[in-house]
Amino acid sequence: MATRRAKISIIGAGNIGGECARSIAMKELGDVVLVDIANKDKPELHMPRGKALDLACCGPVEGFDARITGTFDYADIAGSDVVVVTAGVPRKPGQSRDDLVQINSGIVKSVAENIKKHAPDAIVIVVSNPLDAMVYVMWKVTGFPAHRVIGQAGALDVARYKTFLAWELGVSAEDIQGLLLGGHGDDMVPLPRMTSVNGIPVQDLLSAEKIQGCVDRAKAGGGEVVKLMGTSAWYAPSAGTVEMVESIVRDKKRVIPSAAYCESEFGVGAKGEGYFVGVPAVLGAKGVEKVLTFTMNAEEKKFMDESISHVKDLVGVVGKLFPDLA
Ligand code: NAI
Repeated sequence: MATRRAKISIIGAGNIGGECARSIAMKELGDVVLVDIANKDKPELHMPRGKALDLACCGPVEGFDARITGTFDYADIAGSDVVVVTAGVPRKPGQSRDDLVQINSGIVKSVAENIKKHAPDAIVIVVSNPLDAMVYVMWKVTGFPAHRVIGQAGALDVARYKTFLAWELGVSAEDIQGLLLGGHGDDMVPLPRMTSVNGIPVQDLLSAEKIQGCVDRAKAGGGEVVKLMGTSAWYAPSAGTVEMVESIVRDKKRVIPSAAYCESEFGVGAKGEGYFVGVPAVLGAKGVEKVLTFTMNAEEKKFMDESISHVKDLVGVVGKLFPDLA
């Protein structure tokens, strides 16, 4: 019986897009189409095709069977099961994610129009920053049902949190379980009371100060990398993104902190007036299949409210730039 390989398109074949393509191929999650506009004005160059060719030639060494192609033409994303959007400019030293809102809103809007036209049945994972606003733009412009539009931020933020805890504890990062809520990075809502080492509460293993140190470093983790490299991170963001892609194409129903559309959940919004905020989302073949909710304590609620308010402000900025998206 023939089974069809999943088709995964990646819009933006830069640092994150290229690493996502490599990891998707290594895990044989499906065939990859890389779309970019770089060098489009130079007839002798074709950046996405060149990057795809280079990646495809890893196949014999890594032992994967995945077709990787590169294109300027959105028609090539037709029939995609998942579209990952990394198009946009990354941060430079001294910039916040919010500083990117003007330029990246325009880019994500044009990308969304093309996804709507050429891959109307796809599940879209947005990575471009400022994440919580860009995923909102994607949803508004495509008009896709909200469960098919998801933002990647929490998968990365929680990976950073777990890494720093593992270093502090001297244990394998694999054995840390943890969860975060809220917006990306500085806005994330830490949940130490739900963090454990194979079920042993982390609060029994580390002092409150040490845990707070890990939380603070995770919040500022993106900025730490920008300062060191002059541009934003791409390996860990790609790993988080591909974790989400895998859960969707393999219908694993992993619970991954993701920017998912919420109305009453966690007090995010109201009926018909929702926003995309980081929450524990069950990711499967239908996209966001469920948001798992729980009762927050007073401190968590305070952080969450601040985070939601920041997301609303950013969406308000987008609404001023593009009144049709308000
Ligand atoms: P990059 O500059 O390496 O790649 C971005 C690519 O997008 C470039 O190749 C560029 O030519 C392409 N592009 C720009 N406009 C386009 C359009 N209209 N259509 C198609 N392609 C277009 O940047 P990098 O490092 O890959 O970051 C991508 C985005 O992801 C940035 O906005 C960055 O801030 C964000 N990011 C998000 C994270 C997250 O966890 N959500 C973490 C780190 C970065």
